[in-house]
Amino acid sequence: MKTYEKLLLENKAWAHEKVEDDPDYFNRLSHIQTPEFLWIGCSDSRVPANEITNTQPGEIFVHRNVANLVIHTDVNLLSVLDYAVTHLKVKHVIVCGHYGCGGIKAAMTNTDYKQVLNMWLRNIKDVFRLHRDELEGFHDEEKKFDRLVELNVQEQVMHLAKTSIIQRAWKNEQRPDLHGWVYGLKDGIINPVFEMKAGTHIDPLYEYEDL
Ligand code: CO
Repeated sequence: MKTYEKLLLENKAWAHEKVEDDPDYFNRLSHIQTPEFLWIGCSDSRVPANEITNTQPGEIFVHRNVANLVIHTDVNLLSVLDYAVTHLKVKHVIVCGHYGCGGIKAAMTNTDYKQVLNMWLRNIKDVFRLHRDELEGFHDEEKKFDRLVELNVQEQVMHLAKTSIIQRAWKNEQRPDLHGWVYGLKDGIINPVFEMKAGTHIDPLYEYEDL
């Protein structure tokens, strides 16, 4: 059997098991989607949103990319954000990075990863530059790497707050709260590192009027 064929086989077994436990399971899920959370995570295969939070299909709306970046020219991410915030009316947006992130590590080197990875990783280099004073104070490379993972999550949460999508929801509906988390590959524990409650004021330069 080919490896991908095993996926299809396992899918059948899973669907069968779900219906055994709860005959209405798929019927119910096919009619409603009211997740309370939007998850913006890393594409890393070791950080699956539902599994590490012990949640079920229907509970978390998910977007993942390399190093969980929020980039204002990324139409994919902005569409997911707009749909989740404006239409699904999620109450929380979580940016979840992880220690040991390959994208963050790559951005700390001078390696030429060629286009398009260089374009993507440059955004992380910008986070490093913004926090250079703190980061260069670390003599332990591993600790510096861990801290950049945390600072990257913090910056991405701040990027969310700079969008008119979030600012409009904050003004009109006092939601969603924004959370920056970091997952530990070594212990499976999520470390909350940053939070912005709905309505938090940011640098006035980024605050829109007439939302
Ligand atoms: Co990663």
